[in-house]
Amino acid sequence: MKKDITILAIESSCDETSAAVVKNGREVLSDIISSQIDIHKKFGGVVPEIASRKHIENIDWVVKAALKDAKASLEDMDAIAVTYGPGLVGALLVGVSYAKSLAFGLDKPLVPVHHIEGHIAANYIEHPDLEPPFVCLVVSGGHTNLVHIKSYSEFEILGQTRDDAAGEAYDKVARCLKLPYPGGPKIDALSKEGDPDAIKFPRVMLEEGSYDFSFSGLKSSVLNYINKCKMTNTHYNDADVAASFQKAVIDVLTAKAIRACRELKINKLAACGGVSANSALRASLQNACDSEGIKLYVPSLILCTDNAAMIGSAAYYEFSEGNLADMSLNAVPGIKLGERRK
Ligand code: KG4
Ligand code: ZN
Repeated sequence: MKKDITILAIESSCDETSAAVVKNGREVLSDIISSQIDIHKKFGGVVPEIASRKHIENIDWVVKAALKDAKASLEDMDAIAVTYGPGLVGALLVGVSYAKSLAFGLDKPLVPVHHIEGHIAANYIEHPDLEPPFVCLVVSGGHTNLVHIKSYSEFEILGQTRDDAAGEAYDKVARCLKLPYPGGPKIDALSKEGDPDAIKFPRVMLEEGSYDFSFSGLKSSVLNYINKCKMTNTHYNDADVAASFQKAVIDVLTAKAIRACRELKINKLAACGGVSANSALRASLQNACDSEGIKLYVPSLILCTDNAAMIGSAAYYEFSEGNLADMSLNAVPGIKLGERRK
């Protein structure tokens, strides 16, 4: 019988300090997430220096709580995994240094994990039947990618954003509507009271056949609309603006994701990242998948945004393929999806 592999995973790439214990890549024994959102809210976005300091304050108790919840000790772990990029360099370094110290002190393997591969793996936790190949729509605060997941360790980027990530556009539009950070969930809620067809914002599809995205033009259209209304003393409805903006984002994401499945002849579509928590996006993808005979996989809400359980899942597949790091592991803030550290 194959031996169980239990991994302690650490995530600190942005504003969540998280640690999890994950068995065989799919079974979450614990997942502790300490969010800094309330601290960064005051500044309208994540302040990197504050994020790093808070990670330092939190990482030790978060790891201890994850072990306690899993009723496990450090000695029980088969490996220590950590997100080493992409993300904020100072924030990443806290997790990387902590994980390296643990691995060194315990003489355990160290598994470096790509943050976006973690987001994709959130679907492995949620859906025990999901196996590659499949298409995945990665929509987070920092990334928007359409990816062909060929195997557990092979990722072909079909398309990516040429400017703002989907979550970034949500957050910027939210700020104009005077909604607090992070704006995505607020726009999601406000849109439920608005008419998505009230204002015709552009759907930027780019060149024919392209899987790339562009959201900065849409964001500017929304800002121009609001400014024009203000300058002409015309009343505008916040909920209609939110719903119409959201519909423009979702129409493009859905159309491109479905076209990728059709063209690659793959009938499995997954979504992941913070924006995949969006209720209208989930409904739109589900509708389109139902009419195309595609099975849709989305993680539960807590696994959409940053967490260490998803890192523990991705780490299992890296560990199984022998992709380990030594004490020279460094944070790589700009690493691309599918790239491995040198
Ligand atoms: O994946 P994530 O936690 O962090 C990154 O790796 O970037 O994503 C955070 C992003 C933020 O931009 C936030 O506004 C967005 O995800 N988000 C949402 C929703 N929940 C979080 N966007 C739209 N609708 C939501 N319900
Ligand atoms: Zn993320």
